[in-house]
This record gives sequence, structure tokens and C-alpha cells, in this order.
Amino acid sequence: MRTAFESSKPVRLDVRREIERPEAKADPYAAYARLRRLGPVLHWRTWFQDSLVITRYDDVMSVLRDPRVANDRRNVGDGGKGPLERWWMPSIMKLFLGSMVMKDPPDHRRLRNLVQKAFTPAMVERLNGRVEQITAELLDAAANKPVFDLIADLALPLPLTVISEMLGVPEPERMRFRELIGKVLDPEGMNLAGFVFNYRNMMRLNRFLRRLVQLRREQPGDDLVTALVQAEEGGDRLGEDELISMVFLLLFAGHETTVNLIGNGVLALLQHPEQLRLLRERPERIDGAIEELLRFTNPVGTVSPRFVREDLEIAGVRIPRGTTLTLLLASANLDEAAFADAGRLDITREPNRHVAFGFGAHYCLGAPLARVEARVAIPALLRRFPGLRLAVPADQIRWRANMGLRGLQSLPLSVAGA
Ligand code: HEM
Repeated sequence: MRTAFESSKPVRLDVRREIERPEAKADPYAAYARLRRLGPVLHWRTWFQDSLVITRYDDVMSVLRDPRVANDRRNVGDGGKGPLERWWMPSIMKLFLGSMVMKDPPDHRRLRNLVQKAFTPAMVERLNGRVEQITAELLDAAANKPVFDLIADLALPLPLTVISEMLGVPEPERMRFRELIGKVLDPEGMNLAGFVFNYRNMMRLNRFLRRLVQLRREQPGDDLVTALVQAEEGGDRLGEDELISMVFLLLFAGHETTVNLIGNGVLALLQHPEQLRLLRERPERIDGAIEELLRFTNPVGTVSPRFVREDLEIAGVRIPRGTTLTLLLASANLDEAAFADAGRLDITREPNRHVAFGFGAHYCLGAPLARVEARVAIPALLRRFPGLRLAVPADQIRWRANMGLRGLQSLPLSVAGA
């Protein structure tokens, strides 16, 4: 009998359902290994989208390198409108569409250049002291609780505070933004009712962002939103929708991802006591540990969709122009063909060419910031609470249902005996 791979006709599968199952969230290794066994290319069709899903490391990397693949649907040259754009995109998805993630050159470069300087390793290093201070305050507050929730008490407020301060979001507004984002990211379901619910929240989010931009127009500050408003007012470098999309992207990507790195990372260490012990004994290994936690826990499981501009072939499968591609970064990072013993957490892994921050022109702009936050928060937590342990059995740990992001709803930890 021919396997799916040999037949080179992609197996059809509801990939989202496979990945969002709670068991798959808890143990993604087995779930992604199954997907890779089913084929390097899978066919995922839903009522609103039709795409080919790339499961293996080498193929994901070659797509990310391939100039025949676009981020902007309009550059496919076939009119550029899939069903989503036709029905929904114009109003609700403008926020995403206007952002640099969904652009190709020259727009991508123009938008990225406007903010790149604020996120270079040297600039971000300057924030180190502030990140330490916020972490210490959050841990002080946590120390008074017999059980504390790693997500609500540290992993979320740390990156949210840092990115809000960089952008100039006033304190009372921050949790409001977070609530709206939470509702948009974890909708009631991927059915029509879920989309309607999502639509209302997207509208609220849109209004929130416009109010923030208006505030910084009237009361300029020493922050990124003010700098972007000035770029917009100063000429043709940035349109108003692009400005709103940029603020959205930075605020969203600036915390929804790092919360998962800190949350998933601490959970993985607690579930691998020998690796936790090694890190406690050899704290200088933290940088390698963060890279391995990125690879192993995959805070961001997929990148934004890619669109094929010219016919091409991936792993023997012919991919026609106009196809939408979904790249499973998480599967690539757990691919045995690319990483020896890929299902094992090994904080000494070297080399570690994970693709958790993407690759190529759209490589994560905030990678230096995420690394600094995790490098400060995780060791500070371990130092402060030598007796840190899970406060609930593993089967009661709750994951968020979101295909692109792998993250915990909460993580109750016991700090007693500290
Ligand atoms: C892009 C992951 C933290 C801002 C990306 C991409 C990935 C990623 C995979 C590529 C998207 C694509 O190719 O479609 C992560 C992970 C993070 C993290 C795993 C934390 C652990 C951050 C932070 C920021 C940020 C803290 C701060 C603002 C961005 C931006 C882009 C991006 C602006 C778009 C870059 C472009 O299109 O040129 N990120 N990210 N990210 N990330 Fe991050």
C-alpha cells in the first residue's frame, strides 16, 4: 500500500482540530510527529479557508527563504482576494492586513525601518534594569500568596508593562487592551457565531487603538506611538491605517508571545526536574536554556499565512500559484530530522537552529526584547522561590485554544517553603 507521502497527494485533515486538542497542547511532540508522518504537505480545508500545511523543518525553512512566496495576498497577481478578504477582511482584518507581517517589499521594509531601531539588541539591553525592577515588584507581590498564578502574576504583566511603557499606553488602559485581545484571540469558536462575536471585539479593539493614537497626538510623550504619529504627520512614510496596524502589532506581539515563553518555559522546567536542577546549579546556562525552551515549547506555533506567487514544488508536491501555505513552526522545531532527540528538553543543546522566531525578512523584530524578559524573569523566579512547584496535578493545567499561539490560561504554583 502506498503511504500518503509516496502518493504525493496531500492528506486532507482538520489541522486546527488536531493541534487545539487539550492533549495535543499538553504534549505537542506526539501530535506534530503524527502530522509529519501523515505527510510533509497536508491539505486543510475549512468553510473559510483552504490551505496546504507544511510540517517539516527543511521545507518550512525553504518556504521562508523562497522569493516566490509572498506575505501579501495582493501580490499573488490573481486579483488578491480569497473568500476571507471578500467577506470579512475589509472591515475586521484591516488591523492585521495593514501591518508589516502581511507586507512584502518595498512596503515591508519601509514599515519595519520605522520601528526597527527601538528593538535592536543594544537598545533593548538598556531596558534590562527596568525589566529587573518590574520583575522584582511582581515577585514581591507574589511572595505574599501561598499559591500564585504564574500567568496572571508574572508572565503576563511583565511583557505587557514593558511594551506598554515603550509605546506610551497609560496604565489604566493596559488591562483593557489585554481583555480585548484575549477575546479576539480565543473566540467562542471558529464557526459563524464565533466570527460575529469576534467582529464586535475587533471593532472595540479598533476604537481603543484610535483613541490611543489620538491621545498621543494631543499629548505627545517620549514613546513609540508619539514617534509613529510624528512620522505619519511628517509626510508620506506612514498612512493612518498603517499607523493603527503598527501600534496593534507591536502591542499584541509584544506581550501575547512572551507570556507563553515564560509560562510554557517554567512549566517545562518543572516537568523536567533534572533540567531545572541543572539550570539552578549552572545559572550561566540561561541563554542556551531560553533557546531550548523556545524550541521545545513553541510559544508561537505558526506564522502568518504565505501565498504562492509562482508554481512551485515542495517535497514532491506540486503547489500552484495562488495557494495559501500554513507553516507549522512548532512541528519544524520538533522534527527529528532536524534535531537529535527532538522530543527531549535539553538546555545544553548545541547547536540549536530553532525557527521559533521565524526566519528571513520577517524574522521576529522583538526577539531581543523577548530574550531579555525571559532571561530576567525565569532566573529571578527560581532564585526567589527555591521550593517552587506545581500547585495542581498536570491533568488540571488549562491551555488556551488557539492554533497560532501555544499558551496557558493559568499556572497555579506553590511557593511555600521558599
Ligand atoms: C514576527 C515569534 C516576541 C514583534 C514574529 C515571527 C515569529 C515571532 C515566529 C515571524 C512572523 C512571520 O514570519 O509571519 C515571536 C516569539 C516571541 C516574540 C516566539 C516571544 C517569545 C515578540 C516581541 C515583539 C515582537 C516581544 C515586540 C514588539 C514582532 C514583530 C514581527 C514579529 C513586529 C513582524 C516582523 C516582520 O514582519 O518583519 N515573531 N515573537 N515579537 N514579531 Fe515576534
